[in-house]
Amino acid sequence: MDKKFKRTLVTTALPYANGPVHIGHLAGVYIPADIYCRYLRLKKEPVLMIGGSDEHGVPVTIRARKEGCTPQDVVDRYHSLIKKSFDDFGISFDAYGRTTSATHRQLASEFFRKLYDEGKFVKIKSDQYYDEQSHEFLTDRNIEGECPRCHSQGAYGDQCERCGATLSPDELINPKNKLTGNPLVKRATEHWYLPLDQYQPWLEKWILEEHKEWRQNVYGQCKSWLDSGLKPRAVTRDLNWGIPVPVEGAEGKVLYVWFDAPIGYISNTKEAFPDEWETWWKSADTRLIHFIGKDNIVFHCIIFPVMLKAEGTYVLPDNVPSNEFLNLEGEKISTSRNWAVWLHEYLNDFPGKQDVLRYVLTANAPETCDNDFTWKGFQVRNNSELVAIYGNFVNRALQLTKKYFDGKVPERGSLEEIDKAAIAEFVNIKGEIESHLDQFRFRDALKAAMNLARIGNKYLADTEPWKAAKTDMGRVATILNISLQLVANLAIAFEPFLPFSSARLRKMLNIETADWNALGSLDILNAGWQLAEPELLFDKIPDPPIEAQLERLARIKEENRLAAWQAEPQKPIVDFDTFLKCDFRVGRVLECKKIPKSDKLLQILIDDGMEKRIIVSGIAHYYNPDDLVGKQVCFIANLAPRKLKGVESQGMILTAENPDGSLVLITPGGDVVPGSQIK
Ligand code: 2FM
Ligand code: ZN
Repeated sequence: MDKKFKRTLVTTALPYANGPVHIGHLAGVYIPADIYCRYLRLKKEPVLMIGGSDEHGVPVTIRARKEGCTPQDVVDRYHSLIKKSFDDFGISFDAYGRTTSATHRQLASEFFRKLYDEGKFVKIKSDQYYDEQSHEFLTDRNIEGECPRCHSQGAYGDQCERCGATLSPDELINPKNKLTGNPLVKRATEHWYLPLDQYQPWLEKWILEEHKEWRQNVYGQCKSWLDSGLKPRAVTRDLNWGIPVPVEGAEGKVLYVWFDAPIGYISNTKEAFPDEWETWWKSADTRLIHFIGKDNIVFHCIIFPVMLKAEGTYVLPDNVPSNEFLNLEGEKISTSRNWAVWLHEYLNDFPGKQDVLRYVLTANAPETCDNDFTWKGFQVRNNSELVAIYGNFVNRALQLTKKYFDGKVPERGSLEEIDKAAIAEFVNIKGEIESHLDQFRFRDALKAAMNLARIGNKYLADTEPWKAAKTDMGRVATILNISLQLVANLAIAFEPFLPFSSARLRKMLNIETADWNALGSLDILNAGWQLAEPELLFDKIPDPPIEAQLERLARIKEENRLAAWQAEPQKPIVDFDTFLKCDFRVGRVLECKKIPKSDKLLQILIDDGMEKRIIVSGIAHYYNPDDLVGKQVCFIANLAPRKLKGVESQGMILTAENPDGSLVLITPGGDVVPGSQIK
């Protein structure tokens, strides 16, 4: 750690307590932060890892109304579920609080009040949408209307999910209250704003000049916000769920969720460490690091620092290692569309395999660009890396020791060139892993750790101790001693990344703690040390559970497609006389056959009550010609004849089209004489 710092305070974005957490959360924020904190703890550096649930905000209220319960019920449920998922995956928080706690409410109110009293806010009046029947102002997400771009119904006040357009509520056609359907009117309201514009010169210097080392994606996003000029930002809302604005006359107003949530980092520290929190938050020699996802950059690099600067007594972040997004099987992870791998479900399906997911998500971390999680990739990384490289090396070294030396670490004799070469390859591993971790390059750090196992496998393959065992047990002892030292190195190197497996491996090695400083050493295990019974560190994942996951996703995709389906907009009105011009009738199918060289078309001969006629219909994918014979169908009789694939069609058979494009024949509800008119 840089000499000017004495301690590291790590915060992790507070997940909204309106749903469970998924692999995107884990990959983007919690695993990298956990690796980093475990690493610092192993180095015996003072560190605190602070997290918690973000329990205010509109999405909580939406879910509560949908489920007919209170917002508090919603956050109680999800806070417990989220906390349990983090515990299960070994995310080693020193404090995990919640923004509905009394400590948080008090600290956030005091924070606001201090800025208010010191005149750090500006008060601005504006017109906002208001529901006169439910007596409430509506936030963007609670407003719904017709999209001005694609004209689909149900676009939100901030975005149309159908065409992806970013919107403002003013652009919606016929805006309505999403939950009640009530029409909305504009009404004036006053709010407190943080005048970000006043801090622009300071931010430009602090970020653009003094934090050039921030990740490119973070620095770039900040620069683009600053380049387009900052504007005052409202920090209060007209809402009844949140922390009341602690100012007289502000009834019905609460702190904006993005004002109170980051203060949660401070209050969660205060609640867990009531005597020390100020040392952590207010000493210039604290290094504050925010782990977040890319959608949180502006809040952590611009808005929260401005809040901290305005307040004046807290430290500012030294770095904000933000990740990009993790997609799932090529599509953006979405809570509302259930397009996610939920952590609690993963553990039901793959019990005990926390480290496999930790490994895959780190090896594939979206550090520099969006990345994709695929179930096949997950299986391959497990089977050909964890099992075939790491697990295989460990198992071979331990089994050979058991076989030749009754599980006791043998004595290392004089070294041959081949031993020296292998040792030379791994002694620098500590420096390499550290330099990656110090710069938040978790993927590269993991690769370097895995390299140790590759070196071990190659060493065993090159030295072939099972052959030496026939002639020279002294040589076998040396090879296995070196291999076991490598195994012990692996247990240490993987400790921050795969804590569960490292603990199991330490148990097999019969050692209690990992000493980071011993990394690179050849003398971790003394000769004569009794090892415990070896077990397999990782198991192969066969195809069926992977296929089951893919089937689940296919089902969800289909459900989403059906849910997103919208009826075609109605065609322009026609007058009654025009309608009467169309001659709809019932007919009976007499013969039916496929039209050659067409996979869609059937040639259908029908009894139309007058004589017979041929109609060509594009239903071949959905109906077997033989099954149609004798069926009653509805058709339009006076449609101008058309030739299709060389066959003249005298009319058109009526069908309905399902969301998936499949066609279903329209048939009369009872038996009808052919030729009857449909009116
Ligand atoms: O984006 C989110 O999920 C927010 N709940 C993150 C909040 S981070 C912090 F400021 F609390
Ligand atoms: Zn649209």
